[in-house]
Amino acid sequence: MLLEKLNWRYAAKKMDPSKAVAEDKVERIIEAARLAPTSSGLQPFTLLVVTNKEIREKIKPIAWNQGQITDCSHLLVFAAWDNYTADRINGMFDLVNAERNFTSEGWENYRKMLLDTYPQRDPQVNFEHAARQAYIALGLATAAAAFEGVDSTPMEGFDPAALDEILDLRAKGLRSVAILPLGYREAENDWLVNLKKVRRAREDFVIDVK
Ligand SMILES: Cc1cc2nc3c(=O)[nH]c(=O)nc-3n(C[C@H](O)[C@H](O)[C@H](O)COP(=O)(O)O)c2cc1C
Repeated sequence: MLLEKLNWRYAAKKMDPSKAVAEDKVERIIEAARLAPTSSGLQPFTLLVVTNKEIREKIKPIAWNQGQITDCSHLLVFAAWDNYTADRINGMFDLVNAERNFTSEGWENYRKMLLDTYPQRDPQVNFEHAARQAYIALGLATAAAAFEGVDSTPMEGFDPAALDEILDLRAKGLRSVAILPLGYREAENDWLVNLKKVRRAREDFVIDVK
């Protein structure tokens, strides 16, 4: 059951460097991220899967020296489009048409509406919109990891400009948003593992509008 898995998971603080996540599990976690809903279906982000040890060693100091970055076996980096361009919007609409072998006037009008709106906006506004979509995938990947019995730590505790530099993201029109180490908890060295999961009570969290 999903809720049991979500209660099991926590933002692991210490991962066991001797344990690697099996590739089939990693692929299912990636697939959950790929299936994330996004605004207009634009999927305006790319997922980098960093297994290279030297690169992760370089990332660690620009990420508050968080040990999970090198102790995990797979580091997922969610990198959002730096802007919405006509090419990017057309690319996604063309892909939908090709995959469905079908288009409609309504769909093409919708494409035009986006083309008339997004590329003209401030690139920073567009990046922030794209970043919000990447966070949806981050959430799904975190849940998918829990479903697989894999530990993960969603992180924005890093210097995005420095990470962009290390992974050469700006040249690809991308900017890093969040990272997700995947691995296995080292329970005996993790101060958080046995602490109660704390969330606001339902009555403080939900406003029922009846
Ligand atoms: C977007 C985001 C960024 C986070 N950044 C970090 C981080 O850099 N380092 C860390 O150890 N935990 C980080 N966390 C984990 C949160 O602190 C944690 O999810 C929260 O305290 C709730 O606890 P739980 O996930 O263990 O239930 C982040 C979580 C999210 C969703």
